[in-house]
Amino acid sequence: MTVKPSLSPELPTDLDKNRLPQHVAVIMDGNGRWAKSRGLPRIMGHQRGVDALKDLLRCCGEWGIPALTAYAFSTENWGRPLEEVEFLMTLFERVLQRELEEMMQENVKIRFIGNLAALPESLRREIAKSQAETSKNSGIQFTVAANYGGREEIVQACQAIARQVQQGLVSPEAIDESLFAQYLYTAGIPNPDLLIRSSGEMRISNFLLWQMAYAEIYVTDTLWPDFDRVQFHRALKDYQGRHRRFGKL
Ligand code: FPP
Repeated sequence: MTVKPSLSPELPTDLDKNRLPQHVAVIMDGNGRWAKSRGLPRIMGHQRGVDALKDLLRCCGEWGIPALTAYAFSTENWGRPLEEVEFLMTLFERVLQRELEEMMQENVKIRFIGNLAALPESLRREIAKSQAETSKNSGIQFTVAANYGGREEIVQACQAIARQVQQGLVSPEAIDESLFAQYLYTAGIPNPDLLIRSSGEMRISNFLLWQMAYAEIYVTDTLWPDFDRVQFHRALKDYQGRHRRFGKL
């Protein structure tokens, strides 16, 4: 008989609470395939994907992982059919409206990263509202990457620093890794320790390129809507079995 891992709010006993990743990032891939395999429209996969993300956020809070970042929409995703892009934008807006109260109750602090200026205005309003209302919360840091591209993030940081240099506010010699990181969208958020990608693709897909330098990467064949605590437990177990060397011996 196989024993099903614990699904309770408690951290499974075979995980070491002192060696949990302090920041988990997720590439939520496979929503479309999940829907297709059930004869459903792709958008149903995204809807179920939100449920999986919501449970993961709650799980991180319960198990003591202080930061979660989710890749919701990349700068490349605009190339999808207009209908799907519009659905996703409306979905983000609706989820923010629907979940704000619960995020407040659960002390979640939400932040969006990416080129937000290009998002629909009504979505930008909901983003601003949810960020402002949760800004004083001290629980889990939940970061959502929307219209996010890692290369674009680095380029905009370079532009911002170049402007500072041009104005004489920063000297070129003062530019080091820590100064550079302050100009990224993720300023103030620690780098991810663990990247989880669902649906089997072995790619980073332009996600957190700078921040991911020493992240452990875990890829599962599970499609995102099926990613649950059992899967998360497996990812954490795998993570704790690794020897992180950060380039040293
Ligand atoms: C990738 O699956 C998934 C997306 C592009 C969208 C993910 C977004 C959510 C789950 C909503 C999150 C909402 C908030 C507010 C944070 P895919 O469509 O590429 O799947 P496929 O590879 O099977 O086609």
